[in-house]
Amino acid sequence: MSTTTVLWTAPAVLGLAVLTQATNDPLAISTYLAVLTGLLTWRLIPAVADRFVAAGLSGKDVNKAHQPIIPESLGIIAATLYLICLFLFIPFPFRQWFPAEPAVLSLRTFPFQRLGEFLAALLCLQSMVFLGFADDVFDIRWRYKLVMPTVASIPLLMGYYLSDGITYVVLPIPLRPILGRILDIGILYYVYIAMLAIFCTNSINILAGINGVEAGQSLVIALSVAANDLLYVNGPDRPAAEVHLFSLYFILPFIAVTTALLWHNWYPARVFVGDTYCYFAGMTFAVVGIIGHFSKTLLLFFIPQIFNFIYSAPQLFRLVPCPRHRMPRLNPATGRLEPSDASLATATPTGLAVVRTLARFRLVRVATDDAGTPLRVSNLTLLNMLLVHCGPLPENHLAALVVALQVFGSVAAFTVRYQLVTFLY
Ligand code: UD1
Ligand code: MG
Repeated sequence: MSTTTVLWTAPAVLGLAVLTQATNDPLAISTYLAVLTGLLTWRLIPAVADRFVAAGLSGKDVNKAHQPIIPESLGIIAATLYLICLFLFIPFPFRQWFPAEPAVLSLRTFPFQRLGEFLAALLCLQSMVFLGFADDVFDIRWRYKLVMPTVASIPLLMGYYLSDGITYVVLPIPLRPILGRILDIGILYYVYIAMLAIFCTNSINILAGINGVEAGQSLVIALSVAANDLLYVNGPDRPAAEVHLFSLYFILPFIAVTTALLWHNWYPARVFVGDTYCYFAGMTFAVVGIIGHFSKTLLLFFIPQIFNFIYSAPQLFRLVPCPRHRMPRLNPATGRLEPSDASLATATPTGLAVVRTLARFRLVRVATDDAGTPLRVSNLTLLNMLLVHCGPLPENHLAALVVALQVFGSVAAFTVRYQLVTFLY
């Protein structure tokens, strides 16, 4: 064991021992483990980065003048330490049910469903990390990328079914005269959960391609989820307090490892997060949204990603050609990023009509020939759209702008959820 390992491990274990004696509060222990995991992630990433390059896990940082080779998929370190943290944490939320004397655990009172849901959520996250890493190694095709989160979410669906299995939705006021206040959508609720997992994972992966943007957006969403949870944990509604507490157990270590990863991934990036991280982040959000029963609020935190997905749809569904990479392009003369573009040579008539409409609202930049026929269009991503509007920007300014938009989106989400919602529900 190296001296550094001893220096780290001894006080960390001692601290945990002291804390578990001093308090029974799982949230305090969760916070402690999260901070430790964050620090460990922060230390470990630069220590192992070179081994990733040696193992062939690297990518070109395309928006730098010399396009350096950067270690790729370091999200696997963040995700693995996160999983270890949660594994270590498993006994703590259930400690109050452990018998004081060596005796048999009361099978009548122990919350097996809660434990089942917790383990199912862990299995779901672990599967997603595994599939995400497989994607980084084998560069899986898009149609399979869509299926991967569906498979990974099956344990979560089962856990949800066992824990309470609520499949009804509360309808907004305008629909109530026709459909009533509550509508049981049955099996469709499970389809919705699976689609939420597909959306959360892929939407982060496609708002990507410049230093810091994947981890930056995820950090803001995670902080928003935690802030929302904190509104409930001490509230009078005990069932709500309990599920939001569980959401916090999952989101606190996520905030910690993401902060550490972002530190190394922010401009100029020393490491790339990889698809592993994007899937891991998206699935963590889907998991907390489902077990915390706040998937609609969660989707409000995804406003930039929803916009980016809808805006991307013509390319994702191939109405407009979609190049392998759509991130903005560096202009070496100015050191600023400019919108990248795609040829319209093989665009469908519907695709061309969409491009013309977007151009009318100045949402894309179109290059035309002398006769005014569109030849190329800026790639349909939020990053390129911001550059079309704001003009060329340095890479770190563009990443900061996306993070600022995400913060603005969360402020709007809280306003809608806690102010305007009374008009709808
Ligand atoms: C998704 C996007 C793709 C975008 C890519 C960037 C869609 C349909 N796909 O593809 O348009 O170009 O993410 O991640 O929208 N890279 C950088 N700087 C960064 C981050 C990544 O140069 O800050 C480059 C590196 O070469 C890295 C590669 O992007 O190796 C990673 O791309 P990958 O995650 O494999 O792309 P996809 O997720 O398939
Ligand atoms: Mg990716």
